[in-house]
Amino acid sequence: MDIASRPSEPAENPKVADAAPPPQAPPSIRREDYLPPAWLVPEVALDFRLGLEETRVASRLSVRRNPEGNGTATLRLNGDQITPLTLRIDGQEVHDWRMDGPDLLVALPGEAHQVEIETCLNPGANSQLMGLYASNGMLCTQCEAEGFRRITFFPDRPDVLSTYTVRMRGDKAKFPILLANGNCTAQGEDADGTHWAEWHDPWPKPSYLFALVAGELVANHATFTTMTGRTVDLNIWVRPGDEDRTQHAMDSLIASMKWDEETFGREYDLDLFNIVAVSDFNMGAMENKGLNVFNTRYVLADPETATDADYDAVEGVIGHEYFHNWSGNRVTCRDWFQLSLKEGFTVLRDQLFSADMGSEAVKRIEDVRVLRIAQFPEDSGPLAHPIRPDSYQEISNFYTATVYNKGAEVIRMMRTMAGPERFRKGTDLYFDRHDGQAATCEDFVKAIEDGAGLDLRQFRLWYAQAGTPQVGVELEHKGTQAILRLTQSVPATPGQPEKQPMPIPLRLALYDRDRGEHSGEKLVVLDKDSDTFVFDGFARPPVLSINRGFSAPVAIRFPRDNADLVFLAAHDDDPFARYEAMQGLVVQHLVAAVSGQLDEATRAEARHAIGEAFAAIIADPALDDLMRGELMILPAETYLAEQLAVSDPGAIHAEREGLKRWLGRELAGPLRSLHDRAAAVAYARDAAARGARKIKTQALTLIAAGDPAEGARRAYAQYTAADNMTDRQGALMVLASLDAPEREEALADFHRRYEGNALVIDKWFSLQAGSFHPRVLEHIRALARHPDFTMGNPNRVRALYMAATANPDAFHHESGEGYRMIGELIRKLDPINAQTAARFVPALGRWRRIEPVRAAQMRAELERTAAVPDLSRDVREQVSKSLG
Ligand code: ARG
Ligand code: ZN
Repeated sequence: MDIASRPSEPAENPKVADAAPPPQAPPSIRREDYLPPAWLVPEVALDFRLGLEETRVASRLSVRRNPEGNGTATLRLNGDQITPLTLRIDGQEVHDWRMDGPDLLVALPGEAHQVEIETCLNPGANSQLMGLYASNGMLCTQCEAEGFRRITFFPDRPDVLSTYTVRMRGDKAKFPILLANGNCTAQGEDADGTHWAEWHDPWPKPSYLFALVAGELVANHATFTTMTGRTVDLNIWVRPGDEDRTQHAMDSLIASMKWDEETFGREYDLDLFNIVAVSDFNMGAMENKGLNVFNTRYVLADPETATDADYDAVEGVIGHEYFHNWSGNRVTCRDWFQLSLKEGFTVLRDQLFSADMGSEAVKRIEDVRVLRIAQFPEDSGPLAHPIRPDSYQEISNFYTATVYNKGAEVIRMMRTMAGPERFRKGTDLYFDRHDGQAATCEDFVKAIEDGAGLDLRQFRLWYAQAGTPQVGVELEHKGTQAILRLTQSVPATPGQPEKQPMPIPLRLALYDRDRGEHSGEKLVVLDKDSDTFVFDGFARPPVLSINRGFSAPVAIRFPRDNADLVFLAAHDDDPFARYEAMQGLVVQHLVAAVSGQLDEATRAEARHAIGEAFAAIIADPALDDLMRGELMILPAETYLAEQLAVSDPGAIHAEREGLKRWLGRELAGPLRSLHDRAAAVAYARDAAARGARKIKTQALTLIAAGDPAEGARRAYAQYTAADNMTDRQGALMVLASLDAPEREEALADFHRRYEGNALVIDKWFSLQAGSFHPRVLEHIRALARHPDFTMGNPNRVRALYMAATANPDAFHHESGEGYRMIGELIRKLDPINAQTAARFVPALGRWRRIEPVRAAQMRAELERTAAVPDLSRDVREQVSKSLG
């Protein structure tokens, strides 16, 4: 159907309720209230008349009563900020429909009907970036989780699966490229300068996977031959001028397709796969069927503008979205409480993919670091929730590190217990059993249980209980026996005061301290509050290496001698455990130091042990530089704060910086040689050259801590000699924290050099907002007034303010200025982009774990925000839970 040929619509419908302000406490949606849909929508036809200021949408839904539904005659179609212009049932215009808040209700007499609705949108005014919006003159959509209802009225829930036919028409000059899901089935142009295209997606899908893109785009094109010999056309669409920065994304896409065939037996199922890069995007990317939409930062990369970490992020996110084609699209979620079904599993899949593409050891360490920095604090704070939540007010708030990253860890534990081959049998069964369905987490667990042959009855608690389990470890040596006593406790979390013990799989090894070897790794599963495991054959007390490979997402409580940690840091054959020993050495020392428990002799002894371990790592010829770099990373301040019930961020920062200064001085010679050696390695994308770049900036950071003048000199030299962004950004990061003349020069040069390149200018904002410069707060205020700053672009907002929030010198400044700044940001951003605004609340929500003076200031900002009358549901939920 074509909107252009319709009579003009009636004036505004009087039955539409006045837009009322959202209630103070938005209602909670509860998992246990799930009911199957009353009506199904097997087919959808959408017709778009595209315009930046005005887009007309005509939808035709074939609806059919669901035999499994409750039999109601009322069809509920969700809407959000839209009004129906006309409504037809079986071709006849009807008027006896009504609005229930934002939703449209209409009674249907029979078993099956055709429902036609017209709506009109203003994409140019859509600053929330949900539904249909304009970005840089281009039109695009974001529908997950509940954005489709901002386009047209629909049962916008993931268990309603439909086949879509999409027609769109628009000005050919403005929108030369017209894309939607599936395959293009017809296209043409008219004399009036418009053209049109029709797309059909043969695979039934929920509305959150719908996508449309229209604009001036150019493609990097390639083909992929699948395991059964089918040819798939691949396109990565970007704005003209950006096409030279798409090859890494294309290589990553092809590698993902091949990997999923080999590793999970999953073949792509359409003849076309399109990726579009847009510069205004709330999240990383979106797995719409056959038409992935990406934040530009996860597509564009070349050596001049992207760091090695950026390259890895592109590869990981390209893989992630591609893998969703099976884990998410072919098998989707029954309801949003099951979000981890697709996200946890897909994160695990992208982690395994990246591990296979690069270094498995380094990837594992990075993933655990992310979990500890982002998920552990969530799990121990007011917003803690299980990976399968029981209730929510706004689902956008549940795209969290818990659902994604802890979700991946939970599935990884099943894989560890089953072994990769049996795990694969489980996933094969899952895909077979549930292909084409909207499934639950329970369906997944059952399939793994049946396919892999595991008993997961007690393991299901991992889906239901929030909180990071604390595992206490004691090792006793008696005769020739090593007696291992383990305890577990899962902390109370909001709404869950009591917890049950969970099965915790722990990979462990016992080292003979003379031979520096162990006699084989073991897997023990701690499934009670406490348990004892006895190992025989040790004449002397062995050294325990536990939770190797981070086999369980728990916190190990095991106070131990520095000597044992130094031993493991030097000898452990599990790279993660080696990293962990290094971390433990530093964590143990810094936690004692900030707790004020250190006399000078103990401090000197601990620093000495850390210094020795660092020197050994710098010198170890058996280590590759990528791994050496991991071992040299000091534990993050948020992770240190996690170790304390209540902490003083200023003290943690001061102690950690103090240790860096000490290391910089103590190891000045070796660090300078390391920096010199790394600086001599030419740019290449291989592991050796990447490793050299990684340790180059790490050495530089410590050198600058120990001797700022030498640091400034070397950093400036590294900056000016740089022929790639990794070196340039690393050098600028070090300079940004120094009060040296080279700082201003390099910052000005960087801005001049990359003016107009949004992703690189984002770095320019982040580096300054993240710096430890004494006047950092002043700098952030000035950056917020910089002509390049805008509240309209989430990447830019995050570049400035997420970096500020992660910076203890800024966010936790003792004046309370940092908290006020973030509070103001939340209140100012909320009406523009509620989803992005809500992401800043958890940082303030940590107040209960911070020393009382700062805690009061943080709380005051939350209260000031709660007092705003028309807050979004997103921010309202996060703020009220953080205060509650
Ligand atoms: N499913 C996407 C991904 O993780 C995330 C989209 C979430 N979008 C949102 N606006 N909440 O790959
Ligand atoms: Zn995802």
